[in-house]
Amino acid sequence: MESTPANTLLRVGIVGASGYVGGELLRLLLGHPHVTVVQATSGRNAGRYVYQAHPNLRGLTKLQFIHPDNLEACDALFLALPHGEAARAIERYAALAPRLIDCSADFRLRDSAVYRRWYGSDHPAPDWLERFVYGLPEVNREALRSAHYASGVGCNATATNLALLPLVQAGLVDTNQPILVEIKVGSSEGGAAASDSSHHPERAGAVRSFAPVGHRHTAEVEQITGLTNVHLSITSVELVRGALATVQAFAARPIAEKDLWQAFRAFAREQPFVRIAKERTGIYRYPEPKILAGGNYADIGFALDVDTGRIVSICAIDNLMKGASGSAVQCMNLMCGFAETAGLEFPGLHPV
Ligand SMILES: NC(=O)c1ccc[n+]([C@@H]2O[C@H](COP(=O)([O-])OP(=O)(O)OC[C@H]3O[C@@H](n4cnc5c(N)ncnc54)[C@H](OP(=O)(O)O)[C@@H]3O)[C@@H](O)[C@H]2O)c1
Repeated sequence: MESTPANTLLRVGIVGASGYVGGELLRLLLGHPHVTVVQATSGRNAGRYVYQAHPNLRGLTKLQFIHPDNLEACDALFLALPHGEAARAIERYAALAPRLIDCSADFRLRDSAVYRRWYGSDHPAPDWLERFVYGLPEVNREALRSAHYASGVGCNATATNLALLPLVQAGLVDTNQPILVEIKVGSSEGGAAASDSSHHPERAGAVRSFAPVGHRHTAEVEQITGLTNVHLSITSVELVRGALATVQAFAARPIAEKDLWQAFRAFAREQPFVRIAKERTGIYRYPEPKILAGGNYADIGFALDVDTGRIVSICAIDNLMKGASGSAVQCMNLMCGFAETAGLEFPGLHPV
């Protein structure tokens, strides 16, 4: 591939670059053919080399963290901050860059009343909600091409949405019956800061109900699928990376497996990062997060109980990639007219 001349590279900054999502953004953007990373912030690590927080980047860059107060203007800013921080300072970030890609939950919901219901407080910058396009290219590709502001996606919401959308778009689901979703998640969903529950003796080996009801990502699933009867339960399992959503729904009418094949193929064929994982034999017959670590792929698969009409739809992702930084870079690619897949081609590892 021909390299892009340095003076035409997009100059990007990453705010919150010492965190897990920020670290993945650094990894992706340092290797991106059309981008140069000009600044990466961390309050606690200011002055240190970025590889000191992200040792996988050793030898790849001489970039040092700067304090967030010292951010300068650039072409695009990625925000990978704790909940509420992007919204609180959105005017400042927008003044620094014409394009913002936020990874937090701050600008995902269109409706400030829905935000208040799920997040328990008024939105700090409600006027900004309509300026952001929800950053899931699989549903908002065209809108993202002309967007200046893209929101993040919830990792659990993304796994759920990508499992549900093929069914919903094909009209196969009975929307009068509850749609139940169990999502198994890895520890990196909690971010880089340690807590009692992430202490190794407490977290290792866990199969822990984290949010049996009431998970906030439900709001994103309702917003994207248009469904109002989706119920999420989140369980923490023995993984560092990965989310696996298992949807249980009932068919709206008697269907055969070929109807599901048709629906899944119709959805996946338009999506460079969505693959169908459904095999008759072998170990990896259905989607599994293990082989997706570090990649931007979402694997989707299904099974049908013909007698009862029960559909099981499954989606696996790497929460830090398709569930956060990978989708964010995919959004940037669309917003800037780059190839949608640029910088995102890593296929994951096997064995791992
Ligand atoms: N982890 C996931 O799987 C995942 C998936 C999807 C979306 N997200 C969202 O992505 C965001 C980042 O998540 P994460 O897991 O990367 O969190 P994290 O590991 O805790 O990182 C947070 C980053 O923000 C910086 N920071 C904290 N307060 C700040 C402030 N007031 N101003 C500027 N920088 C500040 C931190 O560094 P300093 O304190 O050193 O400045 C750190 O670099 C969150 O909103 C999260 O909900 C996470």
